[in-house]
Amino acid sequence: MGNELTVAVLGPGGVGGLLAALLSRAGHRVICLSGEETARVLRTDGLRIRSAHFGDFTTRVEADTHVREPVDACLVAVKHTSLDAALARVPAPALADGLLVPFLNGVEHPATLRARYRPDRVAPAVIRVESTRVAPGVIEHGSPFAEIDLTGTAVPRNRLDTLAEALTAAGPATRVQDDETAALWAKMSFLAPMALLTTRHGVPLGDVRTRHRDELIALVEETAAISRACGGPADPAQALDRYDAFPPSMKSSMQRDAEAGRPLERDAIGGALLRAAERHGIPAPVTARVVRELAAGPGAEASRRR
Ligand SMILES: NC(=O)c1ccc[n+]([C@@H]2O[C@H](COP(=O)([O-])OP(=O)(O)OC[C@H]3O[C@@H](n4cnc5c(N)ncnc54)[C@H](OP(=O)(O)O)[C@@H]3O)[C@@H](O)[C@H]2O)c1
Repeated sequence: MGNELTVAVLGPGGVGGLLAALLSRAGHRVICLSGEETARVLRTDGLRIRSAHFGDFTTRVEADTHVREPVDACLVAVKHTSLDAALARVPAPALADGLLVPFLNGVEHPATLRARYRPDRVAPAVIRVESTRVAPGVIEHGSPFAEIDLTGTAVPRNRLDTLAEALTAAGPATRVQDDETAALWAKMSFLAPMALLTTRHGVPLGDVRTRHRDELIALVEETAAISRACGGPADPAQALDRYDAFPPSMKSSMQRDAEAGRPLERDAIGGALLRAAERHGIPAPVTARVVRELAAGPGAEASRRR
């Protein structure tokens, strides 16, 4: 590529802060979009990254509360629960021809974004990473990898390729994928059973796959059937093998949000699964029960036992 991009990052948290810092370190112009308080910290202290994989470093970024000029791309990395409020910082006319690249987990947000912005500039991405905002502007990247699938059927291919090259050169290996539905559902199928069950029971993955294995199998199978009906991949045996290979102490980010009393992306994950199941007439009784129980309070059973 060789060209410097101008990239806005809406939500400089675990995902957004890491990507903003890596792009800035690679020489791109990065404008973080956040509330005034976080913007003030970023202007003063920059973004501070702790990462065994990418190194520990501090990098300067611009910080603002709104998009005010054309950008090549605006990466969207807020949680679902704050998406609507956060998008007010990116007025469609200001974004103009810029790509809008959401990194949110879930499958419904691309349609929301395409209703508000140029549909042929919305390029959904899936990121595999474990990265946490420990304080405003301070990001801990814990996973020994960061990988991105970038999609967007209607987006001009050269625009996707340019961004993918910039991201890959900055750190996270980024592939342009032709099948947006497959990319989003592959992540959903893997994430949903683990996120819903670790949060519902308030226990790490090791306990879910031993003490709650029947429920895990049911959720994996129901999710796979829903994914298949939506045009996504479906390989329940592979999903179970992957869960079994993880360290028993592993927690999901939904579970960490529950433990910290933060809002959960329950509707974007569990709610979206059930809406897709209903649309396609796929039975999902165990998922429905777990989502219902979660709504009554995550880890409710675990806390009752204490
Ligand atoms: N973290 C991961 O490892 C990971 C991995 C894969 C996918 N994801 C997905 O990526 C998405 C983002 O997750 P995350 O963990 O990066 O979230 P996060 O660490 O909570 O970061 C969210 C950021 O959004 C900012 N924000 C909240 N409301 C805002 C608003 N109205 N305007 C502007 N900024 C606002 C927060 O600002 P403050 O800093 O001021 O609080 C924070 O910096 C989620 O959908 C998640 O499921 C996360």
